[in-house]
Amino acid sequence: MNYLNLGVTGLHVSNVSLGTMAFGRWIDEKASKEILDTAIDAGINLIDTANFYGKGQDESFKYGTGECEEIIGQALKGRRDKVVLATKVGLPMGKDPNDAGLSKFHIMREVENSLRRLQTDYIDLYQVHRFDDQTPLEETLSTLTNLVTQGKVRYIGCSNYAAWQIAKASGISKLHGFEHFVSSQSQYNLLSRKVEEELVPYCLSETLGLLVYSPMARGMLSGKYKTSDDLPEGSRAAKGEELIQNYFTDENFELVSKYKQLASEHDVNLSQFSLAWILNQSAVTSAIVGASKPHHITDAVQISDWKWSDELQESVSKL
Ligand SMILES: NC(=O)c1ccc[n+]([C@@H]2O[C@H](COP(=O)([O-])OP(=O)(O)OC[C@H]3O[C@@H](n4cnc5c(N)ncnc54)[C@H](OP(=O)(O)O)[C@@H]3O)[C@@H](O)[C@H]2O)c1
Repeated sequence: MNYLNLGVTGLHVSNVSLGTMAFGRWIDEKASKEILDTAIDAGINLIDTANFYGKGQDESFKYGTGECEEIIGQALKGRRDKVVLATKVGLPMGKDPNDAGLSKFHIMREVENSLRRLQTDYIDLYQVHRFDDQTPLEETLSTLTNLVTQGKVRYIGCSNYAAWQIAKASGISKLHGFEHFVSSQSQYNLLSRKVEEELVPYCLSETLGLLVYSPMARGMLSGKYKTSDDLPEGSRAAKGEELIQNYFTDENFELVSKYKQLASEHDVNLSQFSLAWILNQSAVTSAIVGASKPHHITDAVQISDWKWSDELQESVSKL
């Protein structure tokens, strides 16, 4: 396992981190705890969650119900200080107008709810889940800065922001002496490389930490899906995950079979191959692996030091 500085900070995070979106949604508390134990035993120190993660994501009106944070809080008892705990705020937590977004009202309420569910008195990395164009950045950043001053939050990060939005936030923080975002959490994998246009160069230029979500394209890059009609039993897609459907295109199925061939030539499985690729991209600080079984973690940890050759990079770019 490698540990890298999170952006400009002195905080060291494992290059493979644990994504917990499955906890309390697709897997129960016992299975979730087993995965968390496996991850911590393997040296993973960054745990990513969100107030939003839980059963509410599967309702017709999607809103957070907090099960995931509750499970983590319970499972971390007695070892809270061993991990870097990252959570998020901003997605709907109810149907009322102030139940979502990045207003002072919503953040102040939600930070207390997250702290209670996580059974802790501080959050290491508090991330805004997505850009809120209804709230001035000044209001969001001053609220987050107060939380750092109060000791409830250690570092702040953003997620799903465009490079220009982070640059704007950075200018406002500089002007007013507010905290700066130290990381961006963004989707990046062999099938989804849009961040390479603007965000990746921005992260490299400004030493912003890049925490990658969906490094295996929600499971599409495990090779378990052959067509969009034939969903393997127990898979996320079979359990109702909607966003994975975006990956089910003819072009992607064809690419996956080519990557699978390359992976077998290098004696690794496709999940490991896909993870090794992302870990070898220069801007990436950590890949957040979404595990629903303990072997997802052990597979990932095995590959965390694999150095990707120039020859392999060339083979991938030719596909
Ligand atoms: N900021 C955001 O907006 C945002 C959005 C999405 C996710 N996230 C965060 O990022 C984390 C990771 O995202 P993700 O869950 O989409 O990541 P992912 O790693 O791309 O997908 C995880 C899925 O891939 C499959 N998988 C993983 N390792 C495998 C292996 N070794 N062999 C076979 N299959 C394997 C599993 O599918 P099955 O369960 O079907 O077996 C697993 O559920 C989330 O848990 C969450 O913390 C953040």
